[in-house]
Parts: sequence; C-alpha cells; structure tokens
Amino acid sequence: MKHICVIGTGYVGLVNGTCFADLGNSVVTVDIDQAKIDALNNGEMPIYEPGLREVVERNVAAGRLRFTTSYEEGLKDAEFVFICVGTPEGDNGEAELKYVRAAAATIAKTMTRSLVIINKSTVPIGTGDLVANVIRNNQPTPIKFGVVSCPEFLREGSAVQDFVVPDRTVLGSTPEDQWAAEAVAQLYLPLRAPIMMTDLRTAEMIKYASNAFLATRLSFINEIANICERLGADVIEVARGMGFDKRIGHHFLQPGVGYGGSCFPKDVKALTYMAEEAGAHPQLLNSVTEINDFQRKRVADKLHELLGDVDGKTIALLETSANRRHWTLLRT
Ligand SMILES: NC(=O)c1ccc[n+]([C@@H]2O[C@H](COP(=O)([O-])OP(=O)(O)OC[C@H]3O[C@@H](n4cnc5c(N)ncnc54)[C@H](O)[C@@H]3O)[C@@H](O)[C@H]2O)c1
Repeated sequence: MKHICVIGTGYVGLVNGTCFADLGNSVVTVDIDQAKIDALNNGEMPIYEPGLREVVERNVAAGRLRFTTSYEEGLKDAEFVFICVGTPEGDNGEAELKYVRAAAATIAKTMTRSLVIINKSTVPIGTGDLVANVIRNNQPTPIKFGVVSCPEFLREGSAVQDFVVPDRTVLGSTPEDQWAAEAVAQLYLPLRAPIMMTDLRTAEMIKYASNAFLATRLSFINEIANICERLGADVIEVARGMGFDKRIGHHFLQPGVGYGGSCFPKDVKALTYMAEEAGAHPQLLNSVTEINDFQRKRVADKLHELLGDVDGKTIALLETSANRRHWTLLRT
C-alpha cells in the first residue's frame, strides 16, 4: 500500500484517486473548490461516470479515500502526488498553466518528506522542467523530489474502465529522476498494461500527438463527407469500408458536426501554438482546426437551408454513423 495525494478533484483527479484507492492504496484528493469537496464528503458525485459512485463509496467506507481542501492533510504521509488540475485554453490558444504553477508552489511549501511529483494534467512540452523549478524555488528547505510525466488518456463516459484497462501507461522523466519514474511504474504494475518509459518531453508530446491524431481523423472524414455530398457517395458506407482495413480501423472515423468536448479543441490549438512558437509550420494542425470550425458552420447553414428562420425553434438532430445513432436537441 502506498500513500498518494491527488491535487485537483475534477474528472481526472477524482477518477485516478478513486481507482488508485481501489487498488489498495491510501489516497487523499485535494481541491481548492470547497463546494466540490463538501459535496463529495456528503456522498454527492460532481460528475457521472459509469461505476464511479460505487467505487468511491466502497473506498471511502474502507477508509482508503478521503477528500479535503487541505494540502497539509493531503501531503502529510504522501509518497506520491499527482497534479490533476485544469489546463484550459489561453487567449492565443496556448495551454494556461496558472493552476499547475499554483499547485506546484503550494506542494513545495507544504511537503515535509521526499516526494514523487507526477504531472497528469495535459501540459505543454517543457512543463516537467517548469514544475521542477517551481518546486525548487518555493521549498523553504531543500527536500528530495522527482518529477514524472504520466499523461492521462481516459475518455469521458468510460473513465473508470479506461483506468482499469488502459492501452498503455506512459512515464517520462529526466535521467536524474529515473528512480521516480520507476516508483510510479510500481503503482501501475497491478493493471498489467504495457508501461512505456521515456524522457520527460517525449511523454508530454505523446499526449498532444495522440489527441491531435484522433482529431485529424475526424476532420479527415468530415472533409470526405463534404466531398461525398457533392459527388453522390455515401460517407457512412465509405467510412465503414475504409475501417475494415486493419491499417485504418473503424475508430474516430465517424463524420458529424465536428469534434468538441473538453480536450480535443484545446489540445490541438495548444500543440499548434507550441509548434508556431518553436518556429515550426503546423500546416496540418491548422487545417484540422479550420475543417472543424467549418463543419460546425455547415450544420447551421444546412439547418437554415432546410428550415428557413430557425429563431426560437427546438430542433432534434439524429447523428447517425455505422456504429452509433445519437440524438441531439438544439434550441435556437
Ligand atoms: N476530462 C478529460 O477527459 C481529460 C482526459 C485526459 C486529460 N485531461 C487533462 O487533465 C487535466 C484535468 O482535467 P479535468 O477534466 O479533470 O479538469 P477539471 O476542470 O474537471 O478539474 C480540475 C480541478 O482542479 C481544481 N484545481 C484548480 N486549481 C487547483 C489547485 N491549485 N489546487 C487544487 N485543486 C485545484 C479545480 O477546482 C477542479 O476541480 C487537464 O489538463 C485536462 O486537459 C482531461
């Protein structure tokens, strides 16, 4: 059993904290949002995820999982601290790091024993080094620590399952912090999934590249959909036919209104921003976002074409693809 502190009790923090407790560890999750912590301590879930409530209740009852706003309480016995705070989109598309900096500074001021600090938040390449500097600069007296990047790949809607049966765990560290990455690997061993050890920056990039690739597939099939419409082909059948090719597969090949959600739009933009800042020319990433923006407008245009003035109307959209049908209600 290990002592783990999780900073940020949002989607990622709550799921990770709960699931690590379920593996037999002692976990304290910390959040600055008093209302969220009060709700959790009253047995209310801030999000819905299949299976989450049951796992939370089981581990709270067993005394393995606690919720608090106190960093002191969270870090008192902790050997590991996971940073799971938000990294929203900034004014120019960059990932906003103020929550990560604040969390790291408070960890540095509060820690009393050697600590492995794990970046779970999706953070720009180089943030592992930044967190190490923030910790070093804010420690009242030097205490040993290591920084590890362990990006999160869970999907909202199957987050618990994705923790329990991950495709892989990616761990990045500097050569000096290899001991810390190996300690984190021990936490993940019970999941019996592949663990990939790499350097800090590469681990950070794997997360952005993965999301950008999935978004690219969606923009690709949306572009094909628009071409199919003009040429009289059925894009649903085209995607199905393509997906049977093992090199292509069926996932993330459903045309629709464009990608959304809490990660894809901001992560593609953050990677584009990083690329441009570094002097690269991210033509494909720019096109992925452009196609996505166009696709949303196209839906609105189609509604206007079909219905004329849509002001005040409630419209039901049936999104249909080879393997799902999904109704969306729009109120204009
Ligand atoms: N939601 C997903 O599906 C998903 C998947 C993979 C990766 N991620 C990444 O994980 C990170 C977290 O995402 P999320 O969806 O859990 O965010 P979230 O907004 O649901 O939760 C973040 C939590 O952090 C808390 N917080 C902010 N500053 C804090 C601080 N200084 N100390 C303690 N708590 C603090 C907030 O109050 C909030 O409860 C982001 O970088 C996101 O891109 C999210």
